[in-house]
Amino acid sequence: MKPCVAVLISGRGSNMEALVKAAQAPEFPAKIVLVLSNKPDAAGLEIARQLGITAEAVPAKPFGKDREAHERAIDARLQAAGVEIVCLAGYMRLLTPYLVGRWAGRMLNIHPSLLPAYPGLDTYARALAAGEQKHGCTVHLVTEGMDEGPIVAQAEVPILPGDTEDALAARVLVQEHLLYPAALAALAEKIRLPEAAPRP
Ligand code: GRF
Repeated sequence: MKPCVAVLISGRGSNMEALVKAAQAPEFPAKIVLVLSNKPDAAGLEIARQLGITAEAVPAKPFGKDREAHERAIDARLQAAGVEIVCLAGYMRLLTPYLVGRWAGRMLNIHPSLLPAYPGLDTYARALAAGEQKHGCTVHLVTEGMDEGPIVAQAEVPILPGDTEDALAARVLVQEHLLYPAALAALAEKIRLPEAAPRP
């Protein structure tokens, strides 16, 4: 049985779309069953629906400042859908130890830098300002520290003379769309093995 996957988004959802399309291949070792967004107006929700995936918003607003309560609502949706792996794809909320702990070893994130360089926001501008010659993206397991978990896969791109933030972001994004499905496939294969740790 292929493990079921949910993708959490907040915006345009291009990585989610790349994951869903990759998982449509019969040989892909995971099945994407659910897309959730903390933003009801996330463009990616409609894209997911058009691709035949159940896509729902779980807005944070009704939970006020109680971030863990919001995460419990998300986790309830994940459990109800039989999800075994969660992919964060442009999910713009810091997670509490509750959700990170629930999904330890089974939650991936994609970040637009060659971690551990440039965690956080504005990675393109910072890499350009520092005169770097290369940039890229990283898929990592999610731990409590922001952009700090064990690295699963990375892809590099060159920084070219005259690059702008937009040009560099577009070059990195092409690689994100290849890297994330490959990293998800690798994790899905791993958790299918009989010696994989049971769910906490
Ligand atoms: C990507 O650049 C990803 O690396 C970062 O947020 C962006 C999300 O883009 N975490 P999209 O919503 O997948 O198009």
